[in-house]
Amino acid sequence: MALDHRRPRARWRDELNKTALHVGYDALSESHGHPNSKNGCLIGDSAPMVRIKRRLEQVSATDCTVLITGETGTGKERVAEHIHQHSPRQGKPLVRINCAALPDGLLESELFGYERGAFTGANASYEGKLKLAEGGTVFFDEIGDMSPYAQAKILRVIETKEAYRLGGRRSIPFDFRVLGATNQDLERLVAENRFRKDLFFRLDVARIHLPPLKERKEDIPLLVDHYLKTYNTRFRRQIEGLTPEAWSCVLHYQWPGNVRELNNVLARISRAPCKGTVFQRVRTPPGNFRSSR
Ligand SMILES: Nc1ncnc2c1ncn2[C@@H]1O[C@H](COP(=O)(O)OP(=O)(O)OP(=O)(O)O)[C@@H](O)[C@H]1O
Ligand SMILES: [Mg+2]
Repeated sequence: MALDHRRPRARWRDELNKTALHVGYDALSESHGHPNSKNGCLIGDSAPMVRIKRRLEQVSATDCTVLITGETGTGKERVAEHIHQHSPRQGKPLVRINCAALPDGLLESELFGYERGAFTGANASYEGKLKLAEGGTVFFDEIGDMSPYAQAKILRVIETKEAYRLGGRRSIPFDFRVLGATNQDLERLVAENRFRKDLFFRLDVARIHLPPLKERKEDIPLLVDHYLKTYNTRFRRQIEGLTPEAWSCVLHYQWPGNVRELNNVLARISRAPCKGTVFQRVRTPPGNFRSSR
């Protein structure tokens, strides 16, 4: 039996109640998390997501540094985009720096830039990634994976908002807002002397923590609905919903890869060549499925 898409929330509520996954289900109001609502790009209206959206409204309006934490796939990068897009710096660049992929030897030239002739092969000057973000936001992603050398350099530029280009003779000023994200436990890294305490406090001015999807399962129906619509359009399908059996699977699964994994599973089953309009089963992992005919 297909879930009735005209009354999906009532059906989801039934299904959640049936599967005893319901926690504070009144949070599933119509006023939050709809793709067209103010916080539309962040889907979810579970109690934790409602709190996060309220907090995002506050921090987005300011220029303060925000540390975004949470497991892989919980939406940290999406939150960073949201903050930038709702901040006074919207319209200016948002530059993401993957700190985990920043070799010490290239850090300064990549971030601060270099002058022509600074090293063999530097045939032209380069202004560096931080300057590309001028007036906007720099999103330091995977900050828990930085080497001690990178931590020292990034701490200094965040504090002083200026740096020397390689081969340069004067310090270049920067104007950017700082956002940072990690899926690591930074407090533990600090306690183990693997992350600088001063950098930690410099980043942890305002904190947004994204709980894992298994702790906000009320968000799953909205996410499923959003992704089904997206993939129906993209793959020219007419999938109307999930059968109770498929819902039960989706709602009981622990989603270790969080929203990214849910998205991938729905993309995979939506792309598969079958004619059905309802997913009868969703197996995770590895994502086996069958569609009704
Ligand atoms: N609340 C949400 N609403 C809609 N899409 C979301 C939400 N949270 C996450 N996503 C989607 O899930 C995927 C993973 O999100 P994102 O890249 O932001 O995760 P992450 O926390 O940065 O993960 P990682 O630690 O692995 O880098 C993206 O496709 C993103 O658009
Ligand atoms: Mg990320």
